[in-house]
Amino acid sequence: MGFFDNMRKPKGKLGNIQLKSMNKEHTPVSLWGLKHLDISPEDTVLDIGCGGGININRMAKKAGKVYGIDYSEESVKLSKEVNQKEIGEGKVEVLEGNVASLPFEDDTFNIVTAFETVYFWPDIEKCFGEVKRVLKPDGVFLIGMETNGSDNFIMRFWQHFIDMNLYDDSQIRGFLKNNEYSDITVYLRDGKTKQEIIRRMDGSESKVNDDYSQISFSDRFLQWMTVVAKK
Ligand SMILES: C[S@@+](CC[C@H](N)C(=O)[O-])C[C@H]1O[C@@H](n2cnc3c(N)ncnc32)[C@H](O)[C@@H]1O
Repeated sequence: MGFFDNMRKPKGKLGNIQLKSMNKEHTPVSLWGLKHLDISPEDTVLDIGCGGGININRMAKKAGKVYGIDYSEESVKLSKEVNQKEIGEGKVEVLEGNVASLPFEDDTFNIVTAFETVYFWPDIEKCFGEVKRVLKPDGVFLIGMETNGSDNFIMRFWQHFIDMNLYDDSQIRGFLKNNEYSDITVYLRDGKTKQEIIRRMDGSESKVNDDYSQISFSDRFLQWMTVVAKK
């Protein structure tokens, strides 16, 4: 298991090191993504592809209960360590499992999140259907990515080495529409113009100045995308 395989499914000691690094390196894009989500104490949340578990921890500060799921044993192990206190308090549960077949009843979650993981999902459209199944009526699905799928040379470089798919916003919207999600909103953060572009389902587009300050040097070359949709 090499460095690149560990992005897709972390394993062993190197996998653990990379997961800890992802907890740190993905912080700016994850916090920016989370800005687009209202989480309240009534909410039950599921984080799919939870990796090192830091986003579970962030959301557990606001939600009633947060579940994390990942098909990597190493990710589950670190997520449990990172959320040890919250697990003890009954606020967090972490499970090993695949997004393709989630071990939850229909209509369970108010919010499902997927940060930096949909690139690896098998048959993504079918997986979006599986996410919809476990969402409550009016539940919200948030997809966070540090690429807009097109003009991102850093992610294109990764793609040469990792078995992954980069999707642009129209592809993601298509997968969601084919599963009959509603209120699909795409947020794009353009590192070059420092603007946030908001694309709505009716085709309208607006721009707001991006006052987001937690951007590292390399993030300036990335075009982040967050997509939020309702069941
Ligand atoms: C690049 S890491 C991102 C981790 C974390 N969400 C973050 O933002 O730092 C991708 C994670 O998705 C998990 N993953 C990939 N495909 C999956 C699948 N089909 N089902 C569940 N987890 C999956 C991997 O094991 C890995 O932990």
